[in-house]
Amino acid sequence: MAQKVRAAVFPVAGRGTRFLPATKASPKEMLPIVDKPLIQYAVEEAISAGATKLVFVTGSSKRAIEDHFDTDAELEQALTESGKDELLRSIQDIVPPGVSCIYIRQGKPLGLGHAVLCARPAVGNEPFFVHLADDLIAGSPGCLEQMAAEHSEHNGSVVAVETVPRENTSSYGIVAVDESDRNRVTEIVEKPAPADAPSNSAVVGRYLLAPEIFDKLENIGKGAGGEIQLTDGIAALLDQSPVYAYSFDGVRYDCGSKLGYLQATVAYGLNHPDTGERFREHLKAVLSD
Ligand code: UTP
Repeated sequence: MAQKVRAAVFPVAGRGTRFLPATKASPKEMLPIVDKPLIQYAVEEAISAGATKLVFVTGSSKRAIEDHFDTDAELEQALTESGKDELLRSIQDIVPPGVSCIYIRQGKPLGLGHAVLCARPAVGNEPFFVHLADDLIAGSPGCLEQMAAEHSEHNGSVVAVETVPRENTSSYGIVAVDESDRNRVTEIVEKPAPADAPSNSAVVGRYLLAPEIFDKLENIGKGAGGEIQLTDGIAALLDQSPVYAYSFDGVRYDCGSKLGYLQATVAYGLNHPDTGERFREHLKAVLSD
């Protein structure tokens, strides 16, 4: 039987250069979509998938993330006294009882693979999720929950994939799969040029990884862009332990890019009970000008 996935790793130590100057002093994971920061959507998705240990790999200028998941007694008191019960609940329920947060510093931004390796002492010898908060995925059930269900069928690692236009392969890890074997990954390459890409099936920011990945990450060295790449660690894993590509059911927004962020804001704004109706009217009026 497949092992239950209890740990979720959130690598949040990148500098978010595509979103400067907004990300100069505050983390991109704290950018709000309507009224919640990206990292809260991430945490909610992981908890819905069964995670009880949340491991944040943080870097400089990321203190706001720790503060967000901490209790704010003063604010709670103020909201209680002013009778703002709904707002009070919205800040009290962020991390439910039984779920713990662990923060680990990545001293230098040496790459996503290195960030994941930093989480090793907190994860231990168990399968774990990796969630990149700037890839926001609207889906029900959430993408990680879908991946956990997939994992329970074969016990292998799982990477979420999406078809991208050929000309965009150089922005992603790209996989080749064996369709006759549940889309088992046979090759994975970091940011290949369109002409060299083995397919146009791109890995997006959700992974469910076997703990054997840690030894691989220890040993792979620097890859594309001079960084320790998670993709290279997964490539090294392929011969030892199966990895499956999973086409999730949902819509992904690349909130690390300006356009993706705006698209997510519109989609979530239209669906939000407080704003949806009036926002729809507003957009109609703007677009008919
Ligand atoms: P990105 O490639 O999106 O890089 O990282 P970035 O620095 O966050 O953003 P840009 O491209 O400069 O705008 C993918 C994920 O890996 C994390 C990032 O926080 C993001 O979640 N990461 C990346 C780390 O935690 N550490 C690193 O050394 C690199």
